[in-house]
Amino acid sequence: MNEFWSLPDAKQAKARRKQDVMVDYSFSLPEETIGLGHHKKFYLRTYGCQANIRDGEMIAGLFVAMGFEETDILEQADVILLNTCAIRENAENKVFGEIGNLKHLKVKNPDLIMGVCGCMAQEESVINRILAKHPHIDLIFGTHNIHRLPHLLHHTMFTKEKTIEVYSKEGDIIENLPDHRFGEVKAWVNIMYGCDKFCTYCIVPYTRGKERSRSMEDIIAEVNHLKDNGFKEITLLGQNVNAYGKDLGIDDGFATLLEAVAKTNISRVRFTTSHPWDFTPNMIQVIANYDNIMPAIHLPMQSGNNDVLKRMGRRYTIEQYKQLFDDLKKAIANCSFSTDIIVGFPNESDEQFKQTLDMVDYCQFDQVYSFIYSPRASTPAADFDDSIAMETKKARLAKLNEKIKHYAYLNNQKYLNEVVEVLVDGRSKKDNEIYSGYTPQNKLVNFKGKDIETGQIVTVRVTEAKSWFLLGEAL
Ligand code: 5AD
Ligand code: SF4
Repeated sequence: MNEFWSLPDAKQAKARRKQDVMVDYSFSLPEETIGLGHHKKFYLRTYGCQANIRDGEMIAGLFVAMGFEETDILEQADVILLNTCAIRENAENKVFGEIGNLKHLKVKNPDLIMGVCGCMAQEESVINRILAKHPHIDLIFGTHNIHRLPHLLHHTMFTKEKTIEVYSKEGDIIENLPDHRFGEVKAWVNIMYGCDKFCTYCIVPYTRGKERSRSMEDIIAEVNHLKDNGFKEITLLGQNVNAYGKDLGIDDGFATLLEAVAKTNISRVRFTTSHPWDFTPNMIQVIANYDNIMPAIHLPMQSGNNDVLKRMGRRYTIEQYKQLFDDLKKAIANCSFSTDIIVGFPNESDEQFKQTLDMVDYCQFDQVYSFIYSPRASTPAADFDDSIAMETKKARLAKLNEKIKHYAYLNNQKYLNEVVEVLVDGRSKKDNEIYSGYTPQNKLVNFKGKDIETGQIVTVRVTEAKSWFLLGEAL
């Protein structure tokens, strides 16, 4: 059609070639887009995981660099952009619902530009549905095209042509994009992009390309920069952080990186997400050795049954998961644990589901993110036979959630009357003397206090322990 028309391709998205990843440091705003947003506002809504939130910060950074102002009032926006998530069907339904809801704004203001980006944009079926049913969407770009936003937006604004640019490639690393952090105390830091694990249920390797690590120097420079600018906590981000550096040929790369990050002396370091397969003893040691690496491990289990794990392509047995869990628990004092679990994977039997419940009893997680399996187009599991009724899957989820709540409550009781350290996120909007923040174990605490600044680490006595948060008083 035109040079700003390129559609996703599922076959391409699957490819993993040996060639080097291109790291591009040369970004600068195209001249014609400087001042493009003068007297204009953008509205950005982000769905999904932390990787998407971090992408949202880059997207916002590009808008701000072009002179746009951010608004959270839809009616005031000149550009509305939905940064979408494709992980499950219900995530996609939410976005399609929103696309429908926004249509009337375009009727009121025909100059309004409406766009869709993020993981859903990487799917052929989504693009086809938007083209067929939602002609009011002017702009679509993919996860590999974020740095192209200024060009694409300029094109849409001046030609009024529909603009679609979705590259289904393995992906480059684009450094030096303008950046607009949403927080002032806590920040996300990408250490790697993409995923090569290809779990059979998961769409992420298709939407985000191949596993590729940022250089250690670039990551440490970013952490130091954040620290110098008053940030207290950083979370190292990747679909599979434990595989950090494999592509760069660094041995035990994540252990090395984590130690270097801890040595910057930033107050708090977290990381997500871990894959049990790549977790090494050195990583456990580093976490245990540094006080500023927070004792809170998110270790997705997905299922408690070996046959299901095998069909999911998870690469570990439940015995190996248990061993790793025990090793972490033993090495890291007062560590909290969270996990992800999928129920109702194709043909999961009652007995197999029961083994998942048994594992929850064994690990007694502080928090579990639980999901009903959702078939995703172009993933292998979408073609697996499944004779389990949705009613059964829903009943399993309810049963699992009951157990999850039980252990969340039980774990939180341990903190009753204890003194905990809370990194303060802010003050309650309703009550000036109620603050909230998180403990090292990632427990949310709402507490009474006076004249406390956001970003302070304060000691709090816990006075009440609920399932999902603690209540307390600053000392
Ligand atoms: N259906 C349900 N849950 C899924 N997840 C990933 N893909 C799917 C799917 N197709 C869950 C996994 C993963 C978390 C981020 O989302 O548990 O760890
Ligand atoms: Fe959603 Fe996965 Fe994309 Fe994150 S990477 S936005 S969870 S599909």
